[in-house]
Amino acid sequence: MASLTIRKLDDAVKTYLRLRSAKNRRSVEEEVRVILRELIEGREEPLTPFAVPTAALSTTPTRQRTGAVAEASVTLIIGGGIAAYKSLDLIRRLKERRIEVRCVLTKAAQQFVTPLAVSALSHERVYSDLFDPQSEFDAGHIRLARECDMIVVAPATADLMAKMANGHADDLASAILLATNRKILLAPAMNPLMWNNAATRRNVAQLQRDGVVLIGPNSGEMAEAGEAGIGRMSEAIEIATAAERLLRPPVPRPLAGKRVLITAGPTHEPIDPVRYIANRSSGKQGFAIAAAAQAAGAEVILVSGPVDLSDPQGVTVKHVESARQMLEQVQAALPADIAIFAAAVADWRVANEGEQKLKKTSAGMPPLQLVENPDILATISKLTDKRPPLVIGFAAETEHLIDNAKSKLARKGCDWIVANDVSPATGVMGGDRNTVHLISRRNGGKDGEIAVDSWPVMTKEQVAIELVAHIAKSVTDKSREPAS
Ligand code: C5P
Repeated sequence: MASLTIRKLDDAVKTYLRLRSAKNRRSVEEEVRVILRELIEGREEPLTPFAVPTAALSTTPTRQRTGAVAEASVTLIIGGGIAAYKSLDLIRRLKERRIEVRCVLTKAAQQFVTPLAVSALSHERVYSDLFDPQSEFDAGHIRLARECDMIVVAPATADLMAKMANGHADDLASAILLATNRKILLAPAMNPLMWNNAATRRNVAQLQRDGVVLIGPNSGEMAEAGEAGIGRMSEAIEIATAAERLLRPPVPRPLAGKRVLITAGPTHEPIDPVRYIANRSSGKQGFAIAAAAQAAGAEVILVSGPVDLSDPQGVTVKHVESARQMLEQVQAALPADIAIFAAAVADWRVANEGEQKLKKTSAGMPPLQLVENPDILATISKLTDKRPPLVIGFAAETEHLIDNAKSKLARKGCDWIVANDVSPATGVMGGDRNTVHLISRRNGGKDGEIAVDSWPVMTKEQVAIELVAHIAKSVTDKSREPAS
């Protein structure tokens, strides 16, 4: 089997791996394994509505000329105003946030900052001429307008804003702004009288109607001696933060502050020190739920039987073997807000477990006496003191799926049952896809009616995401219910 020395990979690949593994909180070696597994399975990481935002998920990160890997890119248009000096700092602030910056200087901007300084800080050549043959060949205004995730204009002068509001395109900056279909962030900077002028007010209102986002201007002293008011360009850090927020909107974390307890995998019930009773559960569904709940902001404790899966990132995992150990860890993990019992717990264990390896004898097979295991789901559902407010069980059935699941809901005393058909033909056991029905007591069981919600065939990751979305909705709805 070939081995791979990460140290010998080229710098850009190493940086990419480091960033990706840091983002996923895995070791670099582990991340390489995940990438290879995804490649073989022909899929990317599942996109969860709670996970990393699109810009950060970009599978083809932009390579900066420095060798670092950028997660997003911005075309920064520097307008002609005294505040242009702050744009030099803005370039650095954006790059610190792993945002690649390509700069365009208007003619007037070059009176305040030099292309050389901008180029040195951005590590890119600077563009300024709409009709520069090299620039048209190399990037061109259409490419500068589109080959980025966002356009930032800082300082946005009154003149540049007037051109934008009226659709002018007589220089490179205005042509880019007219030709783009990307988000635009403007950081206006001008004298307070210009800012308050009726023409500027009209232009600002028009630009806002067009979907352009403004940061600032702030109020304060002007460059002109003795003048103060609204018109100072926002500080570089404020503009960079606003740009970052637009590029990477905050991820919804609907289960923040909630503690979720999950069981997963099979249990192994020992016969003697080397043999055990087991089942075919892979643990994939429970692990996927743990990852989805964690991505939704929950604190997750996963109690898992023996499985061949790596621990999900950011989840506390308790590894157990038998049903009794699983119950012990579940009890120790209480209290929890939500408990999801996805483990395929063995119903029976061997009462007369051999202390030594059982020997073959001429008398034939040694008799195995079986005793019932504790039912973890039923035990926790019936607690009076520490019962989690939402208890969810699974029903893996090979026949009469819905009827069996409904009676399981009543018998075990849980709130929801996720029912799935595990007859061999479905390939659910050990496979990657699942067809489930969510069975719940309507109105939290107040009217005794049971609702059945059947979901289409999905991957186990999608089932997990959907289940977590239902949980998040139920938790939010409950918090909105008036106190009785
Ligand atoms: O009775 P049955 O095994 O079909 O019930 C399945 C549900 O009960 C699953 O949620 C499973 O995790 C849970 N269970 C349990 N402890 C057991 C048996 C089942 O928590 N001993």
